Amino acid sequence: MKKIIAANWKLNKTPNEARSFFESFHKLLTPLKSSNEVVFFPSSIALEATQQMLKGSTVKFGAQNIYSKASGAFTGETSAEMVKSLGGNYALVGHSERRQIFGETDAICAEKVKFLIDLNMTPLLCIGETLEQRNLNQTKAVCEKQIKEGLSKVTGPEANAKVVIAYEPVWAIGTGVVATDEQVKEAHLQIFNYLNTLGFTSVPLLYGGSVKADSAKELSQIAHVDGFLVGGASLEPGSFSQIIANS
Ligand code: PGA
Repeated sequence: MKKIIAANWKLNKTPNEARSFFESFHKLLTPLKSSNEVVFFPSSIALEATQQMLKGSTVKFGAQNIYSKASGAFTGETSAEMVKSLGGNYALVGHSERRQIFGETDAICAEKVKFLIDLNMTPLLCIGETLEQRNLNQTKAVCEKQIKEGLSKVTGPEANAKVVIAYEPVWAIGTGVVATDEQVKEAHLQIFNYLNTLGFTSVPLLYGGSVKADSAKELSQIAHVDGFLVGGASLEPGSFSQIIANS
């Protein structure tokens, strides 16, 4: 089955740095002949450079964050329409850094998911527990709440095949600690089952958190792991193309 391999560049790469990344990346990707869907999330300021560099390729891109209004007096924000006007068709929603640092709530996520779906764009909704929540055995409850509330403004028929979920345990993000195969297997099965009970029967489920080429190889064998959301290892063309090849 085709996997989705997504690069979250976070607050990294100027437009020129994005251009030189893609120059190298194209050379590495072409011989791979991978059928996986590849998506880049550059910073907003590098979206246009990304669009220019991806012209004519099947690689997709989107924004790390959008505001759930088309336009208006919202200083500092980027609208989904603006991203779409450049040809971007994805946006991250509810990444743990946005939840923790910028106070993004489940209610805000729900607005953004709805807004993107109405524009025929793909929200990549990020969920996952903190270490403290895992130690308190709250992983399942936390993920289910984030899914239930984040998808509360869309229905299964609307969102199936449009929404993507990324399970990213917060303790595994940027720490070099990857969740074990067992932990990923358990969480993905629970999330898959829960999505089904809500009527979301064809929502791809990505894993994120310190994914590297080696771990991608192992994790992609696990049931209900439909791809990866990659931070640190997506900043280098070599390591990211290796993850695509191994998935
Ligand atoms: P990481 O980031 O791969 O650097 O852990 C993943 C993410 O934050 O999406």
